[in-house]
Amino acid sequence: MDTKESLISTAKQLVKGHQTSHNKIVKLGTKFLSALWSAFHISKRIINDKDYRYLLLLQLVKYKNVHQTTPLTFMNRYPKIFSACQEYFEGKGDLKILSYGCSTGEEVLTLRRYFPTAQIIGADINKRSLETCRKLPVDEKISFIFSTPSEIQKHGKFDAIFCMAVLERKPHDVAAKGITNLSKIYPFEKFEKQIIELDNLLNPNGLLVVHFTQYSLLDTKLASNYQALGNHVQDDYLTPVFDRNSELRRNTNPQKSIFVKLNG
Ligand SMILES: C[S@@+](CC[C@H](N)C(=O)[O-])C[C@H]1O[C@@H](n2cnc3c(N)ncnc32)[C@H](O)[C@@H]1O
Repeated sequence: MDTKESLISTAKQLVKGHQTSHNKIVKLGTKFLSALWSAFHISKRIINDKDYRYLLLLQLVKYKNVHQTTPLTFMNRYPKIFSACQEYFEGKGDLKILSYGCSTGEEVLTLRRYFPTAQIIGADINKRSLETCRKLPVDEKISFIFSTPSEIQKHGKFDAIFCMAVLERKPHDVAAKGITNLSKIYPFEKFEKQIIELDNLLNPNGLLVVHFTQYSLLDTKLASNYQALGNHVQDDYLTPVFDRNSELRRNTNPQKSIFVKLNG
């Protein structure tokens, strides 16, 4: 650590240490300094980081439609889920699959491995991620589209919809801050509206796969139209889950993620 870094670090420790002071003026002063420090960091990132700038803009302009904003993804992220879905569709040809929130395309490439002949549509609201997707070497039965209800509808209906790590907001922040009511960050109504939209795009007996979500499909008004597929649980969602009142659920079991749309 150089002198500048160590000075900043000492100052930060000092401010942190006085945030719980009994002296109101010291407490207020340290809070003000803390806020100033955060504002400085955010401004610095806005100036230097193109992706960060784009995500802020996305949240501002598309605030009604955008869910999780981070584009984090990687190949074969949910092997248990993908294998269970592959088994469910065994012997069925001509599948049409939607990867809703495909980010930079790794999920679509993974799905191609599990479903070698399916038509696969990747949809995302982040145009920068879509630019990356469109550079991938894919076959003619894969396409990437900008996520709007009408654009997706043009390609539907689907036999399976994968909506993974999309229907949530800042799950790690929420966990770290011990937030117990999610309504201001990501209200249940927004989740339910999206589930209804996806349901309209799905064929009967199709699979709606919703994983890494802060709510459960079984709390929505569509719960009775769906049945969880077996006992398949990916068992990797370790951040808090909330109920339909956006209140924290205590002692949750691992969430089920794969749901069969019942016929009629
Ligand atoms: C954490 S990534 C998940 C990527 C991939 N599904 C996975 O699980 O690895 C979340 C993605 O959801 C996308 N997203 C957020 N709101 C969306 C919306 N309304 N329509 C489509 N994609 C959306 C974000 O742009 C981001 O790429």
